[in-house]
Amino acid sequence: MLINIMIRKIKCFFKKAFSNTFYYAVRYRMFGSNLFVGVRSRVTGKGFMKLGENVTVHSDCFIATFPKNKGLIIGNNVMIGQFSRIGCKNSVIIEDNVFTGPNVFIADYNHNYSNINIPILEQDDVVYTKGVVIRRDTWIGTNVSIIGNVNIGKHCVIGANSVVTHNIPDYSVAVGCPARVIKRYDFNQNKWVKVR
Ligand SMILES: CC(C)(COP(=O)(O)OP(=O)(O)OC[C@H]1O[C@@H](n2cnc3c(N)ncnc32)[C@H](O)[C@@H]1OP(=O)(O)O)[C@@H](O)C(=O)NCCC(=O)NCCS
Repeated sequence: MLINIMIRKIKCFFKKAFSNTFYYAVRYRMFGSNLFVGVRSRVTGKGFMKLGENVTVHSDCFIATFPKNKGLIIGNNVMIGQFSRIGCKNSVIIEDNVFTGPNVFIADYNHNYSNINIPILEQDDVVYTKGVVIRRDTWIGTNVSIIGNVNIGKHCVIGANSVVTHNIPDYSVAVGCPARVIKRYDFNQNKWVKVR
């Protein structure tokens, strides 16, 4: 009895995982091998999207691109944590070996609130011209939001619960809201040093 239930659950898991991957294989042809999209996640939209090799999008994520944009480009060996959301109305680039914790929000646009006579819901979005770039080997912690024209450098760490609205240079640890650099890698001393 218990074995039957377990077999059914295992079958169900593989069915969902396989059909998901198959769907993306048909829907988006521009991705490498080993794309894994977890259950209840959606990778969707009519904008340009290019995914590299070994991309994992954990469960319950929502990744959307919109038309007329430069698009979303995700490199190789990228992992997007559970419950994350990426909205791309212009350009979002996530380079190789980037991985994020759960509940990360990345957007290259904001809702417009400038006109007080029109509900915010009905105003056109503010789309940022440069968009978001997360350079290679970077780790984005849990609950991080990255919004606007933001370039996060190579091999950075963004601490849990940070809100990144400005550029972060290569080899930095940044934390807080707004995120500020608290450590930099010192290539003379070959170690991470605190930034005052
Ligand atoms: C950013 C992080 C990696 C820093 O680790 P660390 O290098 O060991 O940093 P330290 O513990 O030396 O902290 C340095 C200072 O930053 C503060 N700090 C560390 N992380 C912080 C954060 N997320 N937000 C605000 N401040 C933070 C510390 O309190 C400390 O402050 P102090 O100098 O006034 O005492 C870690 O704190 C973090 O946020 N990790 C993310 C964990 C996560 O989300 N995991 C998900 C799994 S993928």
